[in-house]
Amino acid sequence: MTLTPIKLRLDHFGKRFPVAGAPDAVAVDDLSMEVRQGEFLVIVGPSGCGKTTVLNVLAGLDQPTSGAVTIDNRPITAPGPDRGVMFQDYALFPWQTVWGNVEFGLRYGPAGNGLDPEARKQRVRRVVDLVGLAGSETKYPHQLSGGMRQRAALARLIANEPDVLLMDEPLAALDAQTRIILQDELLRIWGQDRPAAERRTVVFITHAIDEAVFLADRVAVMTSHPGRLKTIVDIPLPRPRGDATRGLPEFQALTQQIWSLIRDEAYRATVT
Ligand SMILES: Nc1ncnc2c1ncn2[C@@H]1O[C@H](COP(=O)(O)OP(=O)(O)OP(=O)(O)O)[C@@H](O)[C@H]1O
Ligand SMILES: [Mg+2]
Repeated sequence: MTLTPIKLRLDHFGKRFPVAGAPDAVAVDDLSMEVRQGEFLVIVGPSGCGKTTVLNVLAGLDQPTSGAVTIDNRPITAPGPDRGVMFQDYALFPWQTVWGNVEFGLRYGPAGNGLDPEARKQRVRRVVDLVGLAGSETKYPHQLSGGMRQRAALARLIANEPDVLLMDEPLAALDAQTRIILQDELLRIWGQDRPAAERRTVVFITHAIDEAVFLADRVAVMTSHPGRLKTIVDIPLPRPRGDATRGLPEFQALTQQIWSLIRDEAYRATVT
């Protein structure tokens, strides 16, 4: 297999936050990791280990206090249309309907360049259907359930078709069935049927280990106090993946392996 170029790089990345009257809090310490073009990387680890902090600097919303963070070998200093972000708290525009939220980036952002109104409409139609929000286009966020809001946020992200998807627990609020459907859809959108060079690059955070194994090329396991990279586990399960994948003995074995890697950490995090 030929390796694609390195898309994202964290080089001895560290992040501290000032604390009033106390030493700085170390959120992430000396984390080095590379994500290749077209790779699906999933980050797991206990609450507070720095996953969102990593995503924020990759998004350009926050800066490292030490080390370097790059995209295509250029320092990341600000958000850009090449990176689509979906946060833990799916921030939809409350004054826009579902349709308006999904269309927003295409109408006002660079993602819509070259799209005429009809093409834009078709794109919004397709992603709204994809996430299962057909019939709710004219609803406002406050009229949606938590899971529906999350789908709307996912649709908005997908509609912009960014090169890099940065996703912070995007499926966490969904019921189990919808979650499985959207995992499958996500792999399709990422490009699992295409060669690696034509796939998007994804950094995806989850607490669900089975979700991590199902989606990932590699799973980065982080530990807390301070947040560090413990190890990266390769997930060599064949693609395309689907329902049958979840039943494979290798799937169970990888889930077990990752669980045992983070079990002690998760326990420590709940008792400290
Ligand atoms: N703006 C901030 N100011 C001070 N401390 C912060 C800030 N943001 C994060 N932290 C601290 O940095 C550490 C890492 O936080 P982060 O949100 O990255 O964790 P996480 O792994 O995403 O956790 P969770 O799984 O609960 O979402 C935590 O100890 C948190 O309290
Ligand atoms: Mg987080």
